[in-house]
Amino acid sequence: MMKSMVGKYDLGEGYNLEAAKMIKPVLGKIPLFVVGGLRKVAQMKETLENQYADCISMSRPFIREPFIVKKIKEGKTEAVACVSCNRCLAAVANNMPVQCYNKGFPAP
Ligand SMILES: Cc1cc2nc3c(=O)[nH]c(=O)nc-3n(C[C@H](O)[C@H](O)[C@H](O)COP(=O)(O)O)c2cc1C
Repeated sequence: MMKSMVGKYDLGEGYNLEAAKMIKPVLGKIPLFVVGGLRKVAQMKETLENQYADCISMSRPFIREPFIVKKIKEGKTEAVACVSCNRCLAAVANNMPVQCYNKGFPAP
């Protein structure tokens, strides 16, 4: 039987941002990388500009769009296309290749 990990697990956009805001001030010189549901470029910029974290990290968006950073740098997108469906993660548990299985769906 296929192990299912598909779904959003009720995790919203930038779901670790509130934690990052609390952790960052006590870290001193230790850099903080925030990961988790970061999808909108404006939210990434706001995070860095306000120093909620020192670096933006992403996982699933790179599986869908390996060249997403170039696209963002060139100002060609306002959001990554990943819809956080977790099909790429479910693939791991089912011995299937890690890739985006949701490419037909539009960006949110
Ligand atoms: C295919 C896949 C494999 C992952 N493997 C690990 C892992 O081995 N260890 C870990 O801490 N997180 C792992 N993660 C979680 C990611 O590092 C990241 O925290 C999570 O996907 C949320 O970030 P995102 O919204 O940018 O995808 C994995 C995620 C995916 C999609």
